[in-house]
Amino acid sequence: MQLSGNCRPFDPVTPGVEGHNPNMSLLFTPYTLTPPRGMLSLPNRIVVAPMCQYQAIDGLAQDWHLAHWTTLLNSGAGLMIIEATAVTPEGRITPHCLGLWDDATANALGDYLTRARRLAPPVPVCIQLAHAGRKASSEVPWRGGQLIRPENGGWRPLGPSALPHLPDEPPPQEMSLADIEHVRQAFVEAARRAQALGIDAIELHAAHGYLLHQFLSPLANQRQDAYGGDFAGRTRLLMEVFEQVRAVFDGAVGVRLSGTDWVEGGWDEAQSIALAKALRAAKADFVHVSSAGVSPLQKIPLGPLYQVPLARAVRAGSGLTTMAVGLITEPQEAESVLQQGDADLVALARAFLYKPRWGWEAAAALKADVQASPQYWRCTPREAGPIFRDARMGMR
Ligand SMILES: Cc1cc2nc3c(=O)[nH]c(=O)nc-3n(C[C@H](O)[C@H](O)[C@H](O)COP(=O)(O)O)c2cc1C
Repeated sequence: MQLSGNCRPFDPVTPGVEGHNPNMSLLFTPYTLTPPRGMLSLPNRIVVAPMCQYQAIDGLAQDWHLAHWTTLLNSGAGLMIIEATAVTPEGRITPHCLGLWDDATANALGDYLTRARRLAPPVPVCIQLAHAGRKASSEVPWRGGQLIRPENGGWRPLGPSALPHLPDEPPPQEMSLADIEHVRQAFVEAARRAQALGIDAIELHAAHGYLLHQFLSPLANQRQDAYGGDFAGRTRLLMEVFEQVRAVFDGAVGVRLSGTDWVEGGWDEAQSIALAKALRAAKADFVHVSSAGVSPLQKIPLGPLYQVPLARAVRAGSGLTTMAVGLITEPQEAESVLQQGDADLVALARAFLYKPRWGWEAAAALKADVQASPQYWRCTPREAGPIFRDARMGMR
């Protein structure tokens, strides 16, 4: 486990506070998470957001994952979050999603991840554990993403209530208390496997309209029992999963939330703040603030940095370490999100697919440095300056 492998002393650096050089980029200042049984030091505050690849076979990682992870670990980011990884087979979004539900899926993931880590600098790795709920059994996006019915090779999805995501879809099966217990246990078992694989952090996927978000949102959860109704009922499953995962996993544990459903009467910013407070009290290490995904009625005000105000509100209201994400594409934008106190960490997804060395370019733009494999140290154009830390320190 890499928890203390690249540790630096705990040094929560804030602009203007003693110890922080105001001329130095905050984006490239290390950040330390302090879970109850360890310490996780991120070499900088750039995070690769989770991105489904739909390249697994029966949940098993493949060569694609080796290439993809190796690239992202050599991107200059300070933390890589592995794509939504299903805790049960029926919790996959598509039949091609990655899994961590048994020894075979754990061995495949562990094998490729170990190899990727050997080929890249020592970057901490987080895994996003997920269950798709009523959005399971779907086609991959490039084939349209629609629900695959059981007669066409899919399966019947589970959900908090028998309410379909889209009006023309068949409803999911409303989960019994036994189903809830099974899913909760599956998250715990997946967390144990992640720990055994030396993964440094877990992100529970409670965003984008997947199962844990479905329980949170009154638009998808109309249960009459202890897992529905008021705020306490709708947040119960997530809090139970969080607490039980926290109990078995030594590394950092956080939650990805949709800060709002962007639908009147749905999950919203105020509830996100209240939930982040409860998570902080339960010893969460971070909250990752995204938005939307639970309803086709959503009206998303898309634009650069459009989710940053949600992250700012959640951070200010809860005091929990916060990751901002969503159409943050330029190094200066990422830097200003931190300088303005909107978030503690900045996550990017698509930018890392388009520019897999985004972190290197950002280091050049902000006159900072990154870790990179020595085989690449001679690549920098003159105008980039000396961005490779270990090369500068003469480790040749
Ligand atoms: C190809 C792709 C796959 C994604 N898969 C996931 C995922 O597995 N889990 C998740 O929470 N979000 C997923 N997302 C959403 C991203 O993590 C991110 O929140 C979103 O793309 C907005 O950030 P960006 O503007 O930097 O791309 C995915 C996005 C893309 C483009």
